[in-house]
Amino acid sequence: MSISHTLGVLDLVRDGEVSITQQLVNHVARLVDDGTLEPGSKLPATRALAAEASINHLTAVRVYRRLAELGYVAAVVGRGTFVRRSVPVAAAADADDDDWQLGMLAPRTLSYADEMLADTLHAPYREDVIALASGFPSPDLCPARELAQIAAELARQNPRAVTDYLAVEGLPELRERLAEMGRAAGYAQSPDEILVTTGARQALDLVARAVLSPGDVAVVESPTFAGTLASLQATGARVLALAVDAEGPDIAALERILARHDVKLVAVQASCQNPTGADLSPRRRDRLLELARTRGFLILDDGVYATIRYEGPALPCLRAAAPSHVIYVDSLSKTIGGGLRVGWIAAGGPVLDRLVQLKLDADIHTAALPQHLGARYLSGDRHERLLKRVIPIYRSRRDALLAALDRHLSDAATWTVPSGGHHVWLTLHEPIDERALYAEALRAGVSFLPGGAIQAEKTSRTSMRLSFGLLDPAVHDEAARRLAAALREVRRRDRGRGRATGALS
Ligand SMILES: Cc1ncc(COP(=O)(O)O)c(C=O)c1O
Repeated sequence: MSISHTLGVLDLVRDGEVSITQQLVNHVARLVDDGTLEPGSKLPATRALAAEASINHLTAVRVYRRLAELGYVAAVVGRGTFVRRSVPVAAAADADDDDWQLGMLAPRTLSYADEMLADTLHAPYREDVIALASGFPSPDLCPARELAQIAAELARQNPRAVTDYLAVEGLPELRERLAEMGRAAGYAQSPDEILVTTGARQALDLVARAVLSPGDVAVVESPTFAGTLASLQATGARVLALAVDAEGPDIAALERILARHDVKLVAVQASCQNPTGADLSPRRRDRLLELARTRGFLILDDGVYATIRYEGPALPCLRAAAPSHVIYVDSLSKTIGGGLRVGWIAAGGPVLDRLVQLKLDADIHTAALPQHLGARYLSGDRHERLLKRVIPIYRSRRDALLAALDRHLSDAATWTVPSGGHHVWLTLHEPIDERALYAEALRAGVSFLPGGAIQAEKTSRTSMRLSFGLLDPAVHDEAARRLAAALREVRRRDRGRGRATGALS
């Protein structure tokens, strides 16, 4: 569509008293005011306007910015600039479709990671696909029946547990239980240090928002949990990556970053990391804590998988050694059940005060019923007994997946042997287009989480997260066989096209 079709004749007076920018602003404003340009109509791209009006591109950008300030137009990221809709919402709602809503939304571009995560969340529900993409714990291994009994008991004894508001910080009995667990694990000494959250996911988000502002520098181990990346990036902070190997995140790389940047937050999972299953080695752990103290940054330690350990003794929590520098995050999701949405933060000082304020702003407090269920479930030794029962089962699933990878993919890839958690991180010897591999794997009947979705920086390697927690050991062989077949198929097609492959992530 030509410019003149939308904006009419641009009759500009060069060298006049009114600047070109102002003339164009007046021109478009007049067209909107007299109804020639209707609400919702799209303006030409700034480059097209610049070419048509023989003006500098920056002048065209200034014109649209000024029109936006005056309330005539609004820019929608990735779509363009539109005349603002002054029509009342009720009138617009009569339209046949929902497209008009696009103009109402705050700008947010869908990233590759968003796309992949949305896709993999649906994968467990497709019957024809073996869901190595899904990091959920197995519902059969969660104590659903016991929780139902506790809920019935609670309803009899204390029906108001469902309806009464609680303190922002959480139910006192639950904070007591979590502090007891904290004393044993080393992440807290007192219930006063505990803030109950809506899952660890909210805990991560609150910590990111409490500490980081746009332009700050945060460092995160990479690969990591997608939610951690999303929350750090949403603050507008610059997020730098630390590679992870068998000893955990690369602390020497952190030292190089610290030489060039004022880092405010370093986000790690010191035990049973998602997705590598690695532990932070004692040597690196000591150095990380020393750097936090001497360089003055905060460490965010996410321990959601720390209790699902297959090998070696439990490691002391980072927060035990530096309570003022470490903010610890955890939840009941990976052992008792994600649907409870009970998580928590252990922190102190002004950081905790800020987190409590943000929690109040976000949702006042986490729902009361799950907090009561969590508190009752955690009293006595139920949780220890649950872990004793489920860990050997998860270990056998891990071993089944590792053996299947050995049988089907040993000539094409290497992978981690997780000391805990629910995931294996697999890296191909030769890079490949991971979108093509993902699509082919779904066709072959297996899903995985593409590595590009959970890494803070691009890499030339192609990696993927394979999750074994949800699946019966009997299906792992078939899953690995399908994955290997998909890989062979994509390589065959690439060879056919004579195309050199390259990692997308
Ligand atoms: C490392 C890590 N942290 C946090 C979470 C979020 O846990 P929750 O379900 O308690 O919000 C997950 C979920 O997969 C995770 O893997």
